[in-house]
Amino acid sequence: MKTIAVVGTQWGDEGKGKIVDLLAADADIVVRFQGGNNAAHTLVVDGKKFVVRLVPAGALHPGKICVIGPGTVVDPFALVEEIDSLKACANFDDSRIKLSYDAHLVMPYHRAIDRAREASLGKNAIGTTGFGIGPAYEDKAARSGLRFADLLDFRSFRQKLERNLAEKNRYLKAVLKVEPVSSDDLIKAIQRVRRRLLPYLCDTTEYLSKALKEGKRVLFEGAHGTMLDIDYGTYPFVTSSSCIAGAVFAGSGLPPRCLDAVIGITKAYATRVGAGPFPTEIKSKLGERLREEGGEYGSATHRPRRIGWFDAVLTRRAVYLNGASELAVTKLDVLTGIDPLRICVAYELKGQRVEELSLSAARLDKIKPIYEEMPGWHEPLAQARTFSELPLNARRYVERICELSRARLSMIGVGAARDQVIVIRNPFRE
Ligand code: GDP
Ligand code: IMO
Ligand code: MG
Repeated sequence: MKTIAVVGTQWGDEGKGKIVDLLAADADIVVRFQGGNNAAHTLVVDGKKFVVRLVPAGALHPGKICVIGPGTVVDPFALVEEIDSLKACANFDDSRIKLSYDAHLVMPYHRAIDRAREASLGKNAIGTTGFGIGPAYEDKAARSGLRFADLLDFRSFRQKLERNLAEKNRYLKAVLKVEPVSSDDLIKAIQRVRRRLLPYLCDTTEYLSKALKEGKRVLFEGAHGTMLDIDYGTYPFVTSSSCIAGAVFAGSGLPPRCLDAVIGITKAYATRVGAGPFPTEIKSKLGERLREEGGEYGSATHRPRRIGWFDAVLTRRAVYLNGASELAVTKLDVLTGIDPLRICVAYELKGQRVEELSLSAARLDKIKPIYEEMPGWHEPLAQARTFSELPLNARRYVERICELSRARLSMIGVGAARDQVIVIRNPFRE
C-alpha cells in the first residue's frame, strides 16, 4: 500500500503521533491535512520525549518530507518556535518542511478572541485549547482569512491584515471587553517570521500529485479525533475542523480514489479534555488511578484528561465514518491490574437498547451506557512484542474491542516508547 491515513476514533490523544512515527519509517512523506497547533502528539524516542504540534509526527525520521497541507490553520509564530525546538533537540533538518500556500494563518487576534469568548462563557465554555483555532476557521469560512500565499506580496498582506485587525479589535473591545491587539507590534512580528517561512512555502497539492506518480509512499496524519469532528462529533463540544478520513481529500488535495487504507487509533480506554458529554466517564478513584498510570494530562495544555471505559458504540461509529479497516489499540499496558474491566457495548435511550447513535451532545446527554464486564490481568505488558506474549485476558480484551468496533486489529501499544508496540499488520508492508 502506498497511501495510508491515520485517524483518531475517540476525543483525541489516542496515541496517533506514536503510530504515525512508527508508520513513517516506511513512508516518504507525512502530511497534516486539518487542524492546527491545538494538536499535540508526544513521541518518545531513545528515552527522549518530543511534542509535535504542527510539524507532522514523522519528523523524527531523517529524510522524511513533512507537509502541512491546505486544510490546516497555522500559527506562524508557533510553527517557527516548534521548528527551532526540533532543530535544537532532534537535529531536525527544516528543509524537509513544505507548507501549503493555501493554509490559513492563525493570528494573535484569533487567540485573543478564543480566550475571551471562553472566559465569557463561564460554565458553558467548550474548554478549547485557547490557540485561536475556531476563530481562524471562522475567518476561512467567512472568506476573510489570510493565507500563506498572501505573504508573498507583503504590501497587500498588510492591507488585508489591517482591515481584519480593525474589525477584530472593535469586536474584542466592544463585545468581549478585552484589550485590542496592537497593529504595529503584529506587523513587525510578522515581518520577522515571514523571512523564516517563505522558504517552506509550496504548492503542496502539486507536490503530492508528482510524488504519487513517482510511486512515493504517503502517510496522512489526522489530528484530534472523530468525536471532536465539527460535523460528526459531540457538537457543539468539538473542534472547528473535519477530523475524519474524508478530510484527507479536502485538506490535502488527494483525489479520493488514491487513498489505500485508513487506520483508526483507539486507546484501550477513553479520555477527553475539555467540556462535553462523555457517557462512560469514570468519576471514582479508579479514574484518578488511570489518569496517573496513563499520564493522562494534555500534551498541549497540561489539563488533566477525563477518563472513561472503552465505548464501543462511539468507536463503531468512528470506524464506519472513517472507513477504517483496522484499529491500532494503544495504552493496553495502562489497564494492567484493573479487574474486572468494563466495555460499553450499547446505550439505553428512553428504555430502549441502541447500538448505533448520532453523537450530538444533546443526544448523548440522554443515554445511559450498557456495560459488559471482562476479566482483567495483572502482568505488566511493557516487554511484550508479539501477540502471544500478552496474557490471555489482555488478548481477549483487545479482540473484543475490535470485534465490537468492526475492525481488524493491526497494532497494540504497550508503552510510550517507539518500540513498545506489537505490530500484527503494517499496511505499508502488505
Ligand atoms: P495523540 O495526540 O493522539 O498523538 O496522543 P498524545 O501524544 O497527545 O497522547 C498519548 C500519550 O500516550 C502520549 O503521552 C504518548 O507518549 C503515550 N502513549 C502512546 N501510546 C502508548 C502506549 O501504548 N502505552 C503508554 N503507556 N503510553 C502511550
Ligand atoms: P490531538 O491531535 C484532545 C479539544 C479541546 C476542546 C475542543 C475544542 O492531540 O489529539 P479547540 O482548541 O480545538 O477549538 O478546542 O477540542 N481538542 C483536543 N482534545 N486532543 C486534541 O488534539 C485536541 N484538539 C482539540 O480540548 O475540548
Ligand atoms: Mg494529543
